[in-house]
Amino acid sequence: MKDPIIQTFSLTKAFKDVIAVKNLNLKVSRGIYGLLGLNGAGKTTTIKMMVGSLFPTQGSIEIFGQNIHRNAKMDIHKRIGYVPEHPTYFLSMTAEKLLTYIGSVFQMSIQEIKRRITELLRLVELTDAKSRIIAKYSAGMKQRIGIAQALMNDPELLILDEITSNLDPIGRNQMIELLKDLKKQGKTIFISTHVLPEIQKMNADSIAIIDHGHLIMEGTVDKLNEELKTKEIVISPNHKLLREALFSVVSNIKEEEDTLVVNTDKLDEVWQLIAKVALQNNILIKEFRSTFLNIEQIFMKALNSKQIEGIEK
Ligand SMILES: Nc1ncnc2c1ncn2[C@@H]1O[C@H](COP(=O)(O)OP(=O)(O)OP(=O)(O)O)[C@@H](O)[C@H]1O
Ligand SMILES: [Mg+2]
Repeated sequence: MKDPIIQTFSLTKAFKDVIAVKNLNLKVSRGIYGLLGLNGAGKTTTIKMMVGSLFPTQGSIEIFGQNIHRNAKMDIHKRIGYVPEHPTYFLSMTAEKLLTYIGSVFQMSIQEIKRRITELLRLVELTDAKSRIIAKYSAGMKQRIGIAQALMNDPELLILDEITSNLDPIGRNQMIELLKDLKKQGKTIFISTHVLPEIQKMNADSIAIIDHGHLIMEGTVDKLNEELKTKEIVISPNHKLLREALFSVVSNIKEEEDTLVVNTDKLDEVWQLIAKVALQNNILIKEFRSTFLNIEQIFMKALNSKQIEGIEK
């Protein structure tokens, strides 16, 4: 498969005076890619442009190396599965009818359609509900039929907008496992979310953080950690003198039983200070370790530093 799978070039979308997406340059390679942003950041608008349901005001998108707005051919759409944020399927259809219809759109044979329906309904655990009309499904069941319809044509690329929002905790974990399996099969999964621990659990290969339609950061978790330089430092014991000394370097200290936890880019400074205070006061340091930030911490840090710099709108 050609890499990058998706690339956006100065992608911009304005709705009258609201600029929903501004000069977005994303590069999506094989694997799981998380598009992260708060409510209103521009995730759905970006996705709608990717699947061709919205036209960019400026800029362009290539998927599998082809400009999707200029050459939006069936052969490209055949290779993409899409689950919208608020699916509006043919609600009067049963799951079985909907999947049969989708199979026929993709010109699959009757036998292939039947085989695939059995397989997919089992995968999303809707076999027992296959003859009920979708309008009567719960929100989570609708989301599950959404993923089944997106997988019907065995696409190479899945574009999922907030796929887990209506799922119960078991459903969420099943979805995460399913997406990890699909990745193992070589598929690329582009997923938008603001539920950051889920992206962490999926072991996303890359993430992009957007805010007010602007790209703030894009890359692998390791690369973003390097860019931010911030580390989480864990110090034990939680001693009054160590705590007081730390306040001269960092303002935010979390206390967890016998440990002190700080997020800072001043690793050397913190270590020198802790070593000095410990030596002077005969405090035995039980633990001093630094770890990279998780995705949620990266996200918060990236948004906060951008707010300090100010975003040009
Ligand atoms: N059809 C539209 N007309 C006018 N403004 C719109 C339209 N669609 C989106 N917007 C605006 O564009 C911005 C981005 O919206 P978008 O739906 O892309 O955000 P999002 O990141 O998907 O948010 P959420 O997490 O809430 O789903 C918002 O300010 C929104 O109000
Ligand atoms: Mg959205």
